[in-house]
Amino acid sequence: MKIAIVGLGYVGLPLSLQFARSGVNVLGLDVDPAKIESLNAGRSYIKHIESSAIAEHVKAKMFEASADFSRIKEVEAVIICVPTPLNKNREPDISFIINTGKSIAPHLHKGILIVLESTTYPATTDEDLRYVLEAGSSLKAGADFHLAFSPEREDPGNPNSKVAAIPKVIGGYTPACLERAKSVYGKAIKTLVPVSSCRAAEATKLFENIFRSVNIALVNELKVVYSAMGIDVWEVIEAAKTKPFGFMAFYPGPGLGGHCIPIDPFYLTWKAREYVQNTRFIELAGEINTAMPEYVVNRAGEALNAQRKSINGSKVLIVGLAYKADVDDDRESPSYVLMNLLQQRGATVAYYDPYVPVIRPTREHPHWAGMKSVSWDKETLASYDVVLIATKHASVNYRELGDWSRCIVDTRNAMAGIPAKAGQIWKA
Ligand SMILES: NC(=O)c1ccc[n+]([C@@H]2O[C@H](COP(=O)([O-])OP(=O)(O)OC[C@H]3O[C@@H](n4cnc5c(N)ncnc54)[C@H](O)[C@@H]3O)[C@@H](O)[C@H]2O)c1
Repeated sequence: MKIAIVGLGYVGLPLSLQFARSGVNVLGLDVDPAKIESLNAGRSYIKHIESSAIAEHVKAKMFEASADFSRIKEVEAVIICVPTPLNKNREPDISFIINTGKSIAPHLHKGILIVLESTTYPATTDEDLRYVLEAGSSLKAGADFHLAFSPEREDPGNPNSKVAAIPKVIGGYTPACLERAKSVYGKAIKTLVPVSSCRAAEATKLFENIFRSVNIALVNELKVVYSAMGIDVWEVIEAAKTKPFGFMAFYPGPGLGGHCIPIDPFYLTWKAREYVQNTRFIELAGEINTAMPEYVVNRAGEALNAQRKSINGSKVLIVGLAYKADVDDDRESPSYVLMNLLQQRGATVAYYDPYVPVIRPTREHPHWAGMKSVSWDKETLASYDVVLIATKHASVNYRELGDWSRCIVDTRNAMAGIPAKAGQIWKA
């Protein structure tokens, strides 16, 4: 069997490798020529994916990357893993899906399966994508070609999360579409979870991410309330999670980050308006989580104040630029928001992140592009008035940080168990 996977990013690349490993021939399609060149040369551009894993499949001719969408005619199935961001008005931007649909539609043939994996609002697959595919191909979904939605459940940075072992939800446009999608995914994924429609599958993915967003907001709110009462929320979470039923631990932080949790819930908010429905939990969670960087910066202000200093004129080092531990992904990272807020208040800001040696240009924070991570040594660390831990990478030596830095604002409980001087560590 030969399939195409469109969009070779954090989702599409590991999925491609999993299919190749399972004996399915994979044509990877992307619009970024640098990625195509890198993959065909057996080089990875994602930290947690080994170059050797790519090179092995390229050499065995089980995986090839290309920008030539006319090669869709070679494959039995196309899986779409392109970005689904929000636009500047925080509304869904499904233009990547639509553009992909337009690129592949002229090359569709009878019997082909098209699956969308990008997180999106219910009805994207059976309305928006279907219209583009049918208009560009003069074929009919459900009659001439199969159409399905199957959300990605990638957990970047988690070494125990293997694509093959994560159950895969699938919804088809028709029962026959579902059967076809099950037979394709069944080659690479152990457990399939069929649902009644593309919309039910789309709604499932949004529910999973909204669940996280709301629970993170709850624990962020408790962090602020308990801190005012002199209670450490981290200690409380550790104790609460000993309950063997009915509790699941979520952890506070400096704000939401990444490509999913800060964004996806608002896909539902937007779609719900069409049905005159409100999404109050989603909005409230968004409000609380968005307020976190401000809270953290205020804590940094208190920490400086205790040293008779102000944010204005201080040197602040952010430790951790990636949005979560042990990954190199800085998309939507709250570290940027912290840097902006600190700079606006007159601080001189720098960062340390072993996985982000230099800041790439981004649409949201173009002014930080080109800044380099500082080096990790005593002299450098000691030169900052305050160090703010935004991400807890396992490879960072927090004991050294405790020895070298006079004041640390810790949003991740990274300094737990490390001896500290009175007033040195400020949880935030
Ligand atoms: N990263 C995650 O952990 C994760 C987890 C679950 C779901 N998702 C969802 O999966 C989708 C993809 O996310 P990602 O993190 O892989 O994004 P990404 O930005 O890492 O990768 C997307 C890729 O698509 C390519 N692309 C863009 N437009 C294209 C087009 N018209 N044709 C072909 N290729 C195109 C880009 O060049 C890029 O290589 C999103 O909807 C996201 O919400 C991501």
